[in-house]
Amino acid sequence: MTKNLPYLQVALDHSTLPEAIKAASLVGHDVDIIEAGTVCLLQVGSELVEILRKLYPNKIIVADTKCADAGGTVAHNNAIRGADWMTCICSATIPTMQAALKSIKNIREDRGEIQVELYGDWTYEQAQQWLDIGISQAIYHQSRDALLAGESWGTKDLERVKKLVEMGFRVSVTGGLNVETLKLFEGIDVFAFIAGRGITEAENPRQSAIEFKQEIKRIWG
Ligand code: 5RP
Ligand code: MG
Repeated sequence: MTKNLPYLQVALDHSTLPEAIKAASLVGHDVDIIEAGTVCLLQVGSELVEILRKLYPNKIIVADTKCADAGGTVAHNNAIRGADWMTCICSATIPTMQAALKSIKNIREDRGEIQVELYGDWTYEQAQQWLDIGISQAIYHQSRDALLAGESWGTKDLERVKKLVEMGFRVSVTGGLNVETLKLFEGIDVFAFIAGRGITEAENPRQSAIEFKQEIKRIWG
């Protein structure tokens, strides 16, 4: 993929396989990246990844495992089913992340990448260690539960995203995004916007994905 505008990634966090597949088939051609969401992976396992790969042979498919341990095995299991990228939680150890990276690259070669999911406490020193072992994607997350508890995207989040970009990360952002929230990130070199409910629970998911893309083009084009 050549990098021009921030990418649009849809997260499939459904509780059943048929719902996730239906949502994927509605918007798969209109987004750049398709995520097998944590909620659905926990319910149905990496069969979801395999189906998405068959439906969309040329798209980047992400397994949002938020892997905390056994990185090599979890990455292997998802990569053989077709995941290009897999997430590790930021509190995972460096050996876990290294093992995950090695496994995913063994199978997906240059396409294979690990993304670090930033939740709770983490430091820029840790972030530098992730870069040092060859992980250059981070996902800045507003957790669903934090948003439900009244948190919102604010200056401190934007400053952290900017700092990670300056360090050399490709930074995706996620958590309760909708078309209106994209403008908060104007001026920041966001790698991908990851939207779940903002697309999949819209009255017309395909139209919502198209509107996300139009807004990305309006702001970053
Ligand atoms: C939750 C996730 C979700 O996939 C991500 O936050 C996108 O979902 P939504 O846009 O519905 O908040 O990883 O942990
Ligand atoms: Mg997710």
